[in-house]
Amino acid sequence: MGVAKASPALLQHLNGGNSDTPVCWRSAPGQQRKPVSLTVVCGVMLFCLGLISLFTGHLASYLEWYSQRLVKRSFFSELEGISRGPIDIWKSEYSRYFSGCSQRGPNFASAVREQSSNGYLLIAASGGLNQLRTGITDAVVVARILNATLVVPELDHHSYWKDESDFINIFDVDWFISYLSKDVTIVKRVPDKFMRSMEKPPYTMRVPRKSSAEYYLDQVLPILLRRRVVQLTKFDYRLASDIDEELQRLRCRVNYHALRFTKPIEELGQKLVMRMRQMAKHYIAVHLRFVQIIDNV
Ligand SMILES: *[C@@H]1O[C@H](CO)[C@@H](O)[C@H](O)[C@H]1NC(C)=O
Repeated sequence: MGVAKASPALLQHLNGGNSDTPVCWRSAPGQQRKPVSLTVVCGVMLFCLGLISLFTGHLASYLEWYSQRLVKRSFFSELEGISRGPIDIWKSEYSRYFSGCSQRGPNFASAVREQSSNGYLLIAASGGLNQLRTGITDAVVVARILNATLVVPELDHHSYWKDESDFINIFDVDWFISYLSKDVTIVKRVPDKFMRSMEKPPYTMRVPRKSSAEYYLDQVLPILLRRRVVQLTKFDYRLASDIDEELQRLRCRVNYHALRFTKPIEELGQKLVMRMRQMAKHYIAVHLRFVQIIDNV
């Protein structure tokens, strides 16, 4: 099959190349014309290509090196300008394509005041920093759903990091309370007078993951109204993602505005970003996950 389709030139070569129409000719003057084998031609061509690429390869890498030197020089002079002020790490050339959705709507009612609220909601958030953050965000929204007064959430000291830090050590608590004051009433603790008048210790319960707003109204609200103080434990991902749009906006207000790290943490973060920016134009921040492996012993 292959032979039948082969070109006349190749057939010529296979036949010994002694005919009048050989494949290739070396045209050196004064020498007798000799047919050159196809393999030799291909070899020479490959060799030439190799030589060319070897040369252009060097040239390209040299150009690259040179252009990098130029870029680096202008980059570092740019950096000197940047490093004077704090960096807005969220700003990028693409940020204009995104818009926030944390504005409260005009019909979103004001927070219910402490005295007229349905009771106090205590939250024990759990997990690492990331999980704690979503837990706190959901806690604010759940307090809003229940018209409860939220007590500043307790952070987990046991399950992952065994970190002793409280909310007040990690987040700016006064900012948190004041920023959300229109949406939810938040206090630092249940007033002593109120605690003393309670007949029983606070009711403790754990709601299922991703519970809906209706679940809180059906299952938690009656207990809150009866006992006045309810504690929700292991509070991580306990509120459904699919909730009323105004409540979703509240979630954004908490996460993007109300939760601010304390000054020492902010400063340390700035310092790290500055150092990385001084080392290279591009850097990667890796979120190291802590995964607990439980032996089945
Ligand atoms: C919460 O308060 C609003 C008024 O601000 C009221 O319309 C709503 O029914 C209350 N919800 C609960 C669960 O008490």
